[in-house]
Amino acid sequence: MKVAVLGAAGGIGQALSLLLKTGLPAGSELSLYDVAPVVPGVAVDLSHIPTDVKVAGFGADALDQALTGCDIVLIPAGMPRKPGMDRADLFNVNAGIIKTLAEGIVANCPKALVGIITNPVNGTVPIVAEVFKKAGTYDAKRVFGITTLDVIRSEAFVAELKGVDVATVKVPVIGGHSGTTILPLLSQVEGVTFTDEEVAALTPRIQNAGTEVVNAKAGGGSATLSMGAAAARFCMSLVKGLQGEDVVDYAYVAVEGGDAAYFAHPVRLGKNGVEEILAYGELSAFEEQAKNDMLDTLKKDIQEGVDFINA
Ligand code: NAI
Repeated sequence: MKVAVLGAAGGIGQALSLLLKTGLPAGSELSLYDVAPVVPGVAVDLSHIPTDVKVAGFGADALDQALTGCDIVLIPAGMPRKPGMDRADLFNVNAGIIKTLAEGIVANCPKALVGIITNPVNGTVPIVAEVFKKAGTYDAKRVFGITTLDVIRSEAFVAELKGVDVATVKVPVIGGHSGTTILPLLSQVEGVTFTDEEVAALTPRIQNAGTEVVNAKAGGGSATLSMGAAAARFCMSLVKGLQGEDVVDYAYVAVEGGDAAYFAHPVRLGKNGVEEILAYGELSAFEEQAKNDMLDTLKKDIQEGVDFINA
């Protein structure tokens, strides 16, 4: 298994690379790319951890080498939020970065599974898809927006609120990855029930959890450690799928005839990426209303990504 992390010297990139160095199957290779000059050092640092995962670092002019032969590419490259910014404010800076990296994937590993972390995910995933479409290498089954952070936050918050073992908590989260487009399905959490007041308080807490971190870091960036853990967990789902295991996880993917052109769904993963997009099941009246209220925002975010490449 060869996995590339693009933006590997950043806050998320370093946490994620550490978890992959200690978590990928024996014999794997980890390819770390960043425009920051510290990236070879990050690779040397990780290489001193005694696991059977080979690490190599690649600087600004070595994107092609970093991507050659990769099975999975994870992208946390780009600017994070500061207090007062929402994810959409990042679009102008990060769209160009994502476009360049997607072009690198087209040229060097067009069959790789690509997991996008760079915000705004609602728009960066369509950018990658449009670059691949233009190049004739697009396969909707291989492009994922990583929304796992919304899932793990929901698990942590539900366990805390209900006093249950967090290892037993599963929370479906659908929709997009910003503000109200994030839709946790609390009505589907098994083994616990919520009052209307709890749903009305917990839903926006999950939706705004990123802002909780941004404000607490007071200008020092956004979620990096929890995001590193989330991306590593999602990457392990992709790896298991590639190894032939039947795995279901949540991700923001292209959906034919869905609520929007891209929407986070439960997906069955396998050797080709998405083997099946699963239905998200029945929504409560609250969730149905929340979904209908956010669809215009999500569709606008998607269109902005599409237009960035085509307009
Ligand atoms: P950071 O600033 O710590 O790291 C970003 C890294 O990207 C830096 O090392 C920088 O040198 C690198 N970079 C910039 N341009 C590049 C290029 N053209 N090629 C390769 N590398 C490049 O930022 P952090 O905190 O790691 O966040 C990264 C991104 O992840 C941000 O866009 C942030 O909004 C997003 N994010 C996404 C989350 C999600 O749930 N999907 C959660 C938290 C953050």
